[in-house]
Amino acid sequence: MSAQDPAERELSRRAGAQDSHVSARAPAEQRRLTVAFTGASGLPYGLRLLECLLAAGVRVDLLYSAAAQIVARQECDLTLPTQPREAARLLGDRYGAREGQLLVHARDDWLAPMASGSNPGDGMAICPCTMGTLGAIAGGLADSLIERAADVMLKERRPLVLVPRETPLSAIHLENMLTLARAGAVILPPAPGFYARPRSVSDLVDFVVARVLDHLGVPQTLVPRWGDARAAPPGAGRT
Ligand SMILES: Cc1cc2nc3c(=O)[nH]c(=O)nc-3n(C[C@H](O)[C@H](O)[C@H](O)COP(=O)(O)O)c2cc1C
Repeated sequence: MSAQDPAERELSRRAGAQDSHVSARAPAEQRRLTVAFTGASGLPYGLRLLECLLAAGVRVDLLYSAAAQIVARQECDLTLPTQPREAARLLGDRYGAREGQLLVHARDDWLAPMASGSNPGDGMAICPCTMGTLGAIAGGLADSLIERAADVMLKERRPLVLVPRETPLSAIHLENMLTLARAGAVILPPAPGFYARPRSVSDLVDFVVARVLDHLGVPQTLVPRWGDARAAPPGAGRT
């Protein structure tokens, strides 16, 4: 990409806009973030993200699609209630949320704060994100609260982190991701690195969730940062 490339100019402009938002960032416990689960494989990433945000004291508005409820049963033996209040109680108890820290919204709750640019909160992550939801956001459809909230984040220049899951990716998927990256979204595929020597599935999940938290500006120590704790060379410490 040349320095004159319009896409590069847009990305630099967006980075600047996000930096100014970052510098004004409130402590984690004063922040409000939206998390959405959609019906892609990888709900363990979304649940771990929710757990970490609540543990950090962040106020979370949670949205999930009907397909996410199916995936929750399939992947985690978890029944996500359709009633938002019931869901807030269930997940709040599970992760030790304080009173009022976790709100769950129905998929067509247009009265929810993040449906409007006047009250978008501090950012949003869709984790995991289906190709369907990704395409709808890239097309500006705003036909569900998840799509509308993402649309609001983009127009209000708030961090929007998408964790898209599909393999392989078609040209349609890739073009939709490029459209969203150009509009300012962070495309963060669940592609864990192996240089931190993961020992379990939880380690792999944490690698991805750590990067999502970094992009949302929430302090985390889930995975050692490269250069902070030097990885031992192969064979070191073996007796
Ligand atoms: C168990 C299961 C796994 C799925 N995995 C994916 C996936 O990894 N990526 C994807 O784009 N769609 C996946 N789908 C299909 C989506 O759930 C489907 O396209 C749905 O309409 C998406 O709706 P949503 O974006 O509103 O959640 C999966 C469906 C099921 C039941």
